[in-house]
Amino acid sequence: MIMMSFPLKLFLSLTILATELGAFQTNGSHGWAGLNSRANLRPREVQRGRCTEVDPTTIERYERQFSLDRAHGLSSTFPNLQERTPDSPTRRAGLTKRQTLQNPIDVWFHVISADTTPENGNVPLLQVIDQIDALNLGFGPPGLRFALRNVTRTVNADWFNNGGPGTSQQDAMKASLRQGGPAVLNIYSVNFSGTWSSLLGYSTFPQTYASAPTDDGIVIHFASLPGGPLASYNQGKTGVHETGHWVGLYHTFQGSCFDPGDYVADTQPEATPSEGCMEGRATCVVGDVLEGEVDPIHNYMDYSPDACMYEFTPGQADRARMQLMFYRGIAYH
Ligand SMILES: *[C@@H]1O[C@H](CO)[C@@H](O)[C@H](O)[C@H]1NC(C)=O
Ligand SMILES: *[C@@H]1O[C@H](CO)[C@@H](O)[C@H](O)[C@H]1NC(C)=O
Ligand SMILES: *[C@@H]1O[C@H](CO)[C@@H](O)[C@H](O)[C@H]1NC(C)=O
Ligand SMILES: [Zn+2]
Repeated sequence: MIMMSFPLKLFLSLTILATELGAFQTNGSHGWAGLNSRANLRPREVQRGRCTEVDPTTIERYERQFSLDRAHGLSSTFPNLQERTPDSPTRRAGLTKRQTLQNPIDVWFHVISADTTPENGNVPLLQVIDQIDALNLGFGPPGLRFALRNVTRTVNADWFNNGGPGTSQQDAMKASLRQGGPAVLNIYSVNFSGTWSSLLGYSTFPQTYASAPTDDGIVIHFASLPGGPLASYNQGKTGVHETGHWVGLYHTFQGSCFDPGDYVADTQPEATPSEGCMEGRATCVVGDVLEGEVDPIHNYMDYSPDACMYEFTPGQADRARMQLMFYRGIAYH
């Protein structure tokens, strides 16, 4: 009901629009000098469509390219990687033991707000830090770590309310604020209104970095940060889910019940996004549900409420590792 009734099909725009920035009042960056007390906001219950979806044709195209890149040890982001370094993706992809990141992934967090109050999006620094903690908790088992490098604060009501997927506001916001290369995670916190008013967040994929570097990053609802006012969706799991896309993961319900689904072997297929937290839900099973056949409602890449989603599978960790090596140049050891 959340997802299916809502026009959320997203055809990722690879074009960065040249947008007039002068009309916006921007407050620039204030480094670490954010507010330092948690917003004390009243939660409200909202049914949310978590995220956007990419059309299957686009995903097939990404996956064809990914197979080719793996076969040739090349990537769109690093066409010369194999020649430049003996530690090429091909060689590193051969490693099989459990691996963790050598260095944490740098995070730039861009707080967008309608004014300077926490109620209107200017989230306190402690909530930003709690969001990074949620990332580290979620991505601990897959072996990823994140470190907050900087926080920028921008007052811009138009970006704040209208920065949905594919909008000129999004393009202007990212063109003005994005920092770093393919290995740096840029997070933007905004509000979503109008067409996107039930959205919690959206993200780009590693493979699109080469053709649209400025677009790279995740955009999340400011009220979804840990302790935020979105009841049931305020443990920072939206940030974890969107970062899941940023490291190359698809939704667990991608491709419905059919192979190749989400291109991860050990996530159970699922016909539709989860709704609520229905233990034993088994949308792809005809007849008796056997052990291990239930929907992956606890997976971060499904649509369950925050308290219900808390795991990635080893297969998702492997996929993320490959995607990060090939398209973000992020080294494991
Ligand atoms: C910009 O930020 C500074 C420092 O946080 C604050 O004092 C000022 O009121 C802000 N200006 C606007 C227009 O939001
Ligand atoms: C954060 O970014 C701003 C704007 O680019 C910069 O002025 C500031 O020095 C940075 N702070 C840190 C701690 O890197
Ligand atoms: C965010 O957008 C929603 C939906 O349009 C709106 O009801 C709400 O007032 C906005 N929140 C803020 C803080 O502006
Ligand atoms: Zn998603």
